Amino acid sequence: MKVPKKISIKEVGPRDGLQNEKARLSTSDKITWINMLSMTGLSYIEITSFVHPKWIPALSDALAVAKSIERKPGVTYAALVPNQKGLERALEGRIDEASVFMSASETHNRKNINKSISETLPILKAVTSEAAKANLTTRAYLSTVFGCPYENDVPLEQIIRISETLFDMEIDELSLGDTIGAANPVQVQIVLEALLKRFPKEKIALHFHDTRGMALANMIAAMDMGITTFDGACGGLGGCPYAPGSSGNAATDDLIYMCAQMGIETGVDLGKLLLAAKWIEEKAGRQLPSRNLQTAKSLDCFS
Ligand code: HMG
Ligand code: MG
Repeated sequence: MKVPKKISIKEVGPRDGLQNEKARLSTSDKITWINMLSMTGLSYIEITSFVHPKWIPALSDALAVAKSIERKPGVTYAALVPNQKGLERALEGRIDEASVFMSASETHNRKNINKSISETLPILKAVTSEAAKANLTTRAYLSTVFGCPYENDVPLEQIIRISETLFDMEIDELSLGDTIGAANPVQVQIVLEALLKRFPKEKIALHFHDTRGMALANMIAAMDMGITTFDGACGGLGGCPYAPGSSGNAATDDLIYMCAQMGIETGVDLGKLLLAAKWIEEKAGRQLPSRNLQTAKSLDCFS
């Protein structure tokens, strides 16, 4: 098994995590939590989403959050941006990176962003090109790569074709989404084998939801193929409201623990991250999925 010396973690908890939480956090709680995350050693935090507030009411305070967080030098503060209108708000919020998003399957794309795949591509092209002019880096998410809640399997040719179009937009990174946590390690390697023939591994990230407990196994399979960038959410928060069955993201805490045990550098302090996970668990008012958080609580590590 090939194990990298070092990986990059993209923390998506404040966006993917909070977009789907029943408990409504106040703007000031979001800001406090993001500031805590900034002090853990994370170098990338997706802080919010400039989508339509009616579609994701939990993040309707995106601009206030983006304007009020403390920016730690060396940390990239990113946000989800669906279209030009979202980009205007994101630029006002001084984000560093714009993350566009779409799905590899027609039905999820339409349910999530109200457009067909072919209608979406020019919108994303306009956003990435305007963002680049404003000196922002760009990331694209491709959802439902490993399974769609409406169409089940998604043909590999379709994933390749859309990835090609996204890379033609000169995005800095493509994050492949296992939106409903359906992937398995063999499937991960089959998809990566096809994509890595066409695109550089340094520009590919993986975004696993842990619905069926497969996220860490899938990450190991991806590391074995040379991938070194992974998305995670503190505490294992997360989920897309427009994808039934999409529960929490891979818990950043569990990923960091695993890497530390395997001698893989992440640059993140697990103790500080667990404190941030415990803090957000109390605000969410429910037990979060992170195994390391639950273990630390049961061993009384926080007293
Ligand atoms: P739409 O209704 O088709 O938008 O929504 P529209 O372009 O037809 O515009 C309609 C109205 O909305 C207009 O206002 C626009 O100005 C306004 P009006 O002229 O009627 O007064 N509008 C906006 N207002 C504020 N901010 C905006 C914006 N855009 C238009 N950005 C839209 C299309 C994409 C906006 C909508 O479908 C939407 O917001 N969807 C977001 C869904 C979402 O956030 N899902 C979760 C994130 S994706 C995810 O979780 C997956 C991921 O984690 C990876 C994985 O796990 O696989 C990334
Ligand atoms: Mg997601």
